[in-house]
Amino acid sequence: MTRAISLKSVSKSYLRGTRAVEQLSLDIRPGEFLVLLGPSGCGKSTVLRMIAGLEEPTEGEVYLDGEYATDLQPSERNMAMVFQNFALYPTMTSRGNIGFPLRLEARGEDPAPRVDATARMLGIQDLLGRYPGQLSGGERQRVAMGRAIVRNPSAFLMDEPLSNLDAKLRNHLRAEISRITRELGATTVYVTHDQAEAMSLGDRVAVLRGGILQQVDTPRRVYALPVNVFVAAFIGTPRINLLRGVVRAPLDGAMSISLGRQALRLPEPLCLDHQLLRVQQGREVIVGLRSEAVRLAPRSAAGPGEVPISGLVEHVEYQGHEVLVHFNTGSQPAVVPELEAPRPQQPGRRRRESPVGVLGRLRERAGSLRAGPVVTLDRDRDAYASAEERLPTDTGDLVVRTTPDHDLRHGMQVPLLVDIDHLFVFDQHGERISPAPEHLPDLGE
Ligand SMILES: Nc1ncnc2c1ncn2[C@@H]1O[C@H](COP(=O)(O)OP(=O)(O)OP(=O)(O)O)[C@@H](O)[C@H]1O
Ligand SMILES: [Mg+2]
Repeated sequence: MTRAISLKSVSKSYLRGTRAVEQLSLDIRPGEFLVLLGPSGCGKSTVLRMIAGLEEPTEGEVYLDGEYATDLQPSERNMAMVFQNFALYPTMTSRGNIGFPLRLEARGEDPAPRVDATARMLGIQDLLGRYPGQLSGGERQRVAMGRAIVRNPSAFLMDEPLSNLDAKLRNHLRAEISRITRELGATTVYVTHDQAEAMSLGDRVAVLRGGILQQVDTPRRVYALPVNVFVAAFIGTPRINLLRGVVRAPLDGAMSISLGRQALRLPEPLCLDHQLLRVQQGREVIVGLRSEAVRLAPRSAAGPGEVPISGLVEHVEYQGHEVLVHFNTGSQPAVVPELEAPRPQQPGRRRRESPVGVLGRLRERAGSLRAGPVVTLDRDRDAYASAEERLPTDTGDLVVRTTPDHDLRHGMQVPLLVDIDHLFVFDQHGERISPAPEHLPDLGE
């Protein structure tokens, strides 16, 4: 059995006025594996609890298989919830714990065959006689999964079910959750703040920020076409490079995006997306470059769509099969306050705290949930000189992924090629303007 879950303009305010979720609409298809992704406090658990019926929406409606379900009790929804802190009954064996929901249903039938079948599915047949205190964290989590599966629910609601486990076990159980939910064909809503987990598990990923849905799409599309700076920066490791730039579109010359000391010259003939950027002439924008959009190569090696810049090596991060090189290109990184986990700093150097960073942290501390613009360049204008005049930062502003065979050392000047086909441009509010959004804003004809 499986089911469709729909949220229509659902909002949730808690008593003390916290707007945890705002006007969220989401249609989850039968059998779909949907991941709710976002930073701590963005409302993920609240959404899940409203689907489960454990929390009542302040506004909006919940539909299950197209039927109005906002007022249904949790027990009437036939969904199984798996939590981060999976509480097992300490005085019951694994068999007792898994069979517990069946006994509650009091159908009078022997739970043993279904408990055994469930245990086989999870590979925990040998653990059925043990008590929770005699199990490892991962084993306990499987027993908790078993308890959720045994009733054959139509939907699984999982709230960070793996976050207490070590990385190896997490990867293993992640694959198992994916297999089991697919085998059962049950609709699954899975909450996590781990973007890698979201990308590897989800048929679709719904990204939340401050209670507001930013984007819902396949992992591939949220990575390739993030709607705004927040989504771009939240998804992908290493984090996308975000640089503050200014669009230069002279009537009589080539179009470029100035990045302070250097500029990205847009290749001619201009593609449609870049033609549309003309209207931004003179405006500050945010340039997004994923680490794979830049390679270490001389100007002479440039292919079509590649433009040269150069970077000063600040820091080299060896990761075995690849190397992350932190360059200083003389540009100013754009900061997304909520996601501010600065890149690894150079040993022995302290980065001066930017005003955006301080504000961001204050905002976080104040528990502010208002999901305003993703970045607020205007407000910070006083704090910075104009883009052209800015001093280079003392840490890298551009991280590039490369193979370990380059011999790179601090202070080397290296030629780089930027693949303009993989260039993102966001406006001052952090909304993506290039590639142009599929649905251009209604110009009010
Ligand atoms: N019962 C409650 N009363 C008041 N405020 C609440 C309550 N539950 C949650 N909140 C607030 O609502 C917001 C969203 O909380 P929620 O638990 O949904 O976030 P989350 O995305 O699941 O975070 P995390 O990743 O840390 O679990 C937070 O600001 C939280 O403090
Ligand atoms: Mg939560």
